[in-house]
Amino acid sequence: MPRHILTAVAWPYANGPRHIGHVSGFGVPSDVFSRYMRMAGHQVLMVSGTDEHGTPIQVQADAEGVGTRELADRYNRVIVEDLARLGLTYDLFTRTTTRNHYDVVQEMFRTLYDNGYVVAKTTMGAISPSTGRTLPDRYIEGTCPICGYGAARGDQCDNCGNQLDPTDLINPVSRINGETPDFVETEHFFLDLPAFAEALKEWLGQRTDWRPNVLKFSMNLVADLQPRAITRDLDWGVPIPLEGWRDRDDKRIYVWFDAVIGYLSASIEWARRSGDPEAWRKWWQPADADEAASYYFMGKDNIVFHSVIWPSILLGYDGKGGRGGNPGALGELGLPTEVVSSEFLTMEGRKFSSSRSVVIYVRDFLDRYDADALRYFIAVSGPESQDTDFTWAEFLRRTNDELVAGWGNLVNRTVSMAAKNVGSIPAAGALTDADRALLDGVRAAFPAIGALLEKSRQKAAVTETMRVVAEVNKYISDQEPWKLRTEDPDRMATVLHVALQAVRDCNTLLTPFLPHAAQAVHEQLGGEGTWSGLPEVRQVSEEGNSDYPVITGDYAAAQARWESIPIVPGTPLSAPTPVFRKLDPSIVEEELGRLEQKAGS
Ligand code: MF3
Ligand code: ZN
Repeated sequence: MPRHILTAVAWPYANGPRHIGHVSGFGVPSDVFSRYMRMAGHQVLMVSGTDEHGTPIQVQADAEGVGTRELADRYNRVIVEDLARLGLTYDLFTRTTTRNHYDVVQEMFRTLYDNGYVVAKTTMGAISPSTGRTLPDRYIEGTCPICGYGAARGDQCDNCGNQLDPTDLINPVSRINGETPDFVETEHFFLDLPAFAEALKEWLGQRTDWRPNVLKFSMNLVADLQPRAITRDLDWGVPIPLEGWRDRDDKRIYVWFDAVIGYLSASIEWARRSGDPEAWRKWWQPADADEAASYYFMGKDNIVFHSVIWPSILLGYDGKGGRGGNPGALGELGLPTEVVSSEFLTMEGRKFSSSRSVVIYVRDFLDRYDADALRYFIAVSGPESQDTDFTWAEFLRRTNDELVAGWGNLVNRTVSMAAKNVGSIPAAGALTDADRALLDGVRAAFPAIGALLEKSRQKAAVTETMRVVAEVNKYISDQEPWKLRTEDPDRMATVLHVALQAVRDCNTLLTPFLPHAAQAVHEQLGGEGTWSGLPEVRQVSEEGNSDYPVITGDYAAAQARWESIPIVPGTPLSAPTPVFRKLDPSIVEEELGRLEQKAGS
């Protein structure tokens, strides 16, 4: 494995609070991956931020009766707090309204233009006949020309996942008032995607270890590429950096073109903030290609932007599309190593919908339950490779039967038995076959589970880890150390030693999934200092901009390493408190009631 790992996490729109469906797609999986990679000794750079431009922001600002900047400020703050509370270890979580981001986006746009991959064209834009204003793409609905789905939007079909233009739709109507839009001539810049077809095919052809559904989907997209408009009739967004366009207040760069560039601009911002402005190059321009790899995490509705649009922008910037060209001022940039996409989470059998209140926001969830309980659910039961349903009954079962009864109780009874009977970690005497079998089994789990995590097979990884936890539980039931107390105290000490070592190793294996609990278990085992790092929210400034909050952290200082670390006999132990809260079964009714109430109101 290369040493430098870029974890590029999809940028949530700052048009509202995020719900648990969102964080099950991009949030928790990217953090589990990054934590594991750091523990395994890699230099991880995990970046993202809020996506603050485009019609999603404009439309919500109109709905709330505030300006776009004010809306973006409001939800940027909410999202930053929520993601930090979930324990997501971004090296930098920033936003797309920074000066730095504007500079990088304009630099890329200009280079693509100079290399001939961005061309101006006259096209048809939608206008609302009743207001005379431009009608945003996603506010136009009609029949998808590709799959026939009746409720396709002007920007994308949610059924087949294809990107669309409003003029592609059959029978387009405004979602605001049902009127048929007028289409008038307007000039826009287009990204010449067909010019990248060959290079994209070659690149995708080398991607052998992607999830098969993601790879197949991407290959299909590349088989039929059309030029895509990358500017919009809008006053909110990054200005077009060309003579005659720069100062216009009615044309902006398309939000998706700017957002994906965030991965690079955030890396550059991170480097600057870390005091070594060139440091980002280690992830984007390794001296040796094997030295760096990049993993992009998202929900499946984002695949096209990461497996077609972003690689095309990079190829164009590098001068490596069909029209050739020269790399821009930043130098040649690397394409994604892997696009890790999850499927969708539904909520009690229904599609998440903020507008219809079929939703549970991250904030509300974390006000009532622990971050690790949500993280565990997402890992073990989330939409990793197929759509899955979140139900409160399943959340209750996973939490109580697996986290509390399986893992929490194991920690609790092992530490309390040792604390009560010995007062410290006991030394082991001669080991029996059963002792050795347990310790060997746990040790062997490190490479096996590590290999799964490297491939983002997190469901299999956490399931395997819980199987190891069950082995330890079985060992204790078989050995019955409580019976040995008076009969054979030496043997009891050995059993407790072996059990505590296994608990410590299981805690290490669970650290990527349960970072908060892992810190608590570390301390209950007599450990000191930071075991698993947690993010912090910091207020930062930038010339020419108002202050803004970022998520960052000093994760290298954490002790967690992906290996069996021997426990130290003699370490004092005290009576532990439960690591997880057991949930009362009544929460299921309560939460379903909340959902009904909201949906009905
Ligand atoms: N804002 C988009 C969404 O929520 C995701 C953008 S990912 C990006 O679906 F990297 F392209 F920004
Ligand atoms: Zn379709």
